[in-house]
Amino acid sequence: MTVRIHPSILTADFANLQSEVERVATADALHVDVMDNHFVPNLTFGPRMVGRLNEVSAIPLDVHLMISDVDRWGPGYAELGVFSVTFHAEASDHPVALARRLRGIGARAGLALKPGTDVTPYLELLPEFDQLLVMTVEPGFGGQTFLHDMLPKIRAVHAARGDLDLWLQVDGGIALDTIALASEAGADTFVAGSAVYQAPDGADPAEAIAALRALAAEHPHTHA
Ligand code: DX5
Ligand code: ZN
Repeated sequence: MTVRIHPSILTADFANLQSEVERVATADALHVDVMDNHFVPNLTFGPRMVGRLNEVSAIPLDVHLMISDVDRWGPGYAELGVFSVTFHAEASDHPVALARRLRGIGARAGLALKPGTDVTPYLELLPEFDQLLVMTVEPGFGGQTFLHDMLPKIRAVHAARGDLDLWLQVDGGIALDTIALASEAGADTFVAGSAVYQAPDGADPAEAIAALRALAAEHPHTHA
């Protein structure tokens, strides 16, 4: 099975971002959390920062927008040339139109769901997206505890995607003790912030990435 590990720069040292990006060069993509202090109660990066990260990173950028009014502001991130732009269903009035715009600009389009958002109304929209992100914590902060209640939602997306080329991403609390559960439920793309940049036993990011990847691969989906 395919396993993708996307370290989240949110837990890295913001005074040394270029070297922090280089420390995760063995990962599949760099997850960049854009927060606007409105959609979530935290503030991180804007487009200039994301653009520079995209220029210095050797691996693709997986941008996770936790911003309001994303129909207006989302396309600007795709125009930076990043690999992937994921926006929240709760922040968009026109998710299909936005996904088409993002794809038209050349980015992969992702749809993210907060823990309290039912996935059912979105299952029929899956062909419009390249990635579905099931949040496994409330968005806003790193270092939170994985919400086991989200496993049925992961299973529902996995069952619904059929033969679609849709990446099933999980984000929040993914670590050595939880990644196998998410993988068995059907996730294939794993965001990890603290588990990579603040790994237990002082493991460096490359070791942490390898350990997470191995655990996910050893616990493939257990159903169709
Ligand atoms: C939370 C962010 C996550 C965060 C995950 O709102 O979307 O990407 O960095 O951090 P960990 O892996 O520490 O839960
Ligand atoms: Zn994220």
